[in-house]
Amino acid sequence: MRAIDIRNKYLKFFENHGHKVIPSAPLIPENDPSVLFTTAGMQPLVPYLLGEKHPEGTRLTDYQKCVRTVDIDEVGDNRHLTYFEMLGNWSLGDYFKEESIKMSFDFLTKELEIPVEKLSVTVFAGDEDAPRDEESANIWKSVGMPENHIYYFGKDDNWWIAGEEGPCGPDTEMFYDTGKEPCSKDCNPSCGCGKYVEIWNNVFMEYYKDKNGYTKLKQQNVDTGLGLERMNMLLQGKETPYDTEIFAPIMEKLQTLAKHDEISSRRIVAEHLRSSMMIISDGGRPSNVDRGYVLRRLIRRMTRHLNKLEIDLNELSGLIDLNIDNLKEMYPELEKNRETIKQVMIEEKDKFVKTLAHGEKEFEKAIAKIKQEGAKKIDGQVVFRLYDTYGFPPEVTSDLAREQGYEIDMEEFQKLFKEHQEKSRMGSEQKFKGGLADQSPETICYHTATHLLNAALKIVVSKDVHQKGSNITAERMRFDFSCDHKLTEEEKQKTEDLVNQWIKEELPVTVEEMKKEDAIASGAECMFIEKYPDIVTVYTIGNISKELCGGPHVKNTKELGTFKIKKEEASSAGVRRIKAILEK
Ligand code: ALA
Repeated sequence: MRAIDIRNKYLKFFENHGHKVIPSAPLIPENDPSVLFTTAGMQPLVPYLLGEKHPEGTRLTDYQKCVRTVDIDEVGDNRHLTYFEMLGNWSLGDYFKEESIKMSFDFLTKELEIPVEKLSVTVFAGDEDAPRDEESANIWKSVGMPENHIYYFGKDDNWWIAGEEGPCGPDTEMFYDTGKEPCSKDCNPSCGCGKYVEIWNNVFMEYYKDKNGYTKLKQQNVDTGLGLERMNMLLQGKETPYDTEIFAPIMEKLQTLAKHDEISSRRIVAEHLRSSMMIISDGGRPSNVDRGYVLRRLIRRMTRHLNKLEIDLNELSGLIDLNIDNLKEMYPELEKNRETIKQVMIEEKDKFVKTLAHGEKEFEKAIAKIKQEGAKKIDGQVVFRLYDTYGFPPEVTSDLAREQGYEIDMEEFQKLFKEHQEKSRMGSEQKFKGGLADQSPETICYHTATHLLNAALKIVVSKDVHQKGSNITAERMRFDFSCDHKLTEEEKQKTEDLVNQWIKEELPVTVEEMKKEDAIASGAECMFIEKYPDIVTVYTIGNISKELCGGPHVKNTKELGTFKIKKEEASSAGVRRIKAILEK
């Protein structure tokens, strides 16, 4: 069986059990500025897990493209991947533990024909927030899971949440026994020795966590995730995902091209190449911030390892072709975006090649000095200089260091990196304040309309509405705000009317500078208090709005024209989005 066959079997199985197959969301979340990439199948479904009605019903299944970069440094070993595919099925207030566990068990033992002796499961042991999950354990027993294959663990192992806040709950995880010798007499699925490999996670999502603790959700959901590459590897009896059909052709090609047989460099190239292709295909482009910077790091690290293997960098185009040919059955979008993928990757590779040799020389000098001094770690200043002057992502410097038996001072680097970002952000704010940024009369009007909308929502919807994001072009404004429900037609109309009323009232817009604390004490609204300098500018509109803001704004609301809400939709968990225009 190939990965694509497992995927098809999975979707068919859940379709036969009443689920609607929905498409994978893009890797780059459309409405969620709070995360870099889609990291789990549930992520695009958060509003529905919280109770909004999904147009396809209450039983869904899909394959989801995911990128997780926390372990990017580990790629090159035999298991870590930055890109992976997650197969999932969801109950949105439909079935719960019993049906979920029975379906998982049937899929594993009947469809994939895994002998039950090879399976173990874990369930939540219970604590002050939620009870011990005997119910799941009993269901597992009833379907035929031997009692000594059922383990209980606490929150660290058997509770799932994406990040710090959101829908969550106890989970039951399924493990595959590779047949390796137990690492000790206490060897178990959570010990991490490699005997047991996690294959599937069913989360019983009936709680919501925020900073005040846990509350029950409106409905009991099930959210599951099965790692495709892993399952594929296990079913084929392979040791690593690189030995399966997903990576084997590119690994072999790299071996024929390379002057040295360094397996971890080949894995890094193969893995980062696939990840970068998928991100570019979904619209990502290299840059120095956020998502773009992750992509830049992936391409640059890959380039450095190609170089290390002494593979002619002009081979990159052929390697991309080979990879697309190999993966296009799974991801037809790769074929569609073939030329763009090549162009973006080659351009980024070329940019990096210009500084790569110089940076490596600089690194050698630094390492010689460190050896002389007998230091253990490469200090953050060096890592930062390599980043700032030669465009070396920290992973590249970390690889170079590791190859010589050294580590880098990542903490110090992160500190310097943050300071640097802060400075450039302040620089651009300064520019903004001085009016140097590109501010057309249209965008200035939208800035002021944004403050009016914020104030109107607080009156019409709830005083707890707060701004969560904003994006302005000369044509429209987009405003994200905290709110737990879809606005009613009446709320939308009232909000629009109120903004237009204030425009008609010809309210003056005034600006003053004050100490941050004084501004907050005076009740001025602001988004991220810690991000503002000590002296802030505060814009006041009549007596209806007071906000910390860099401006600029119109002098009087009469300049705005007529305000119209074009769309109101979910943005992410607990965040709604309004798109609006001003008509003159
Ligand atoms: N959302 C769960 C996970 O990512 C299924 O493991």
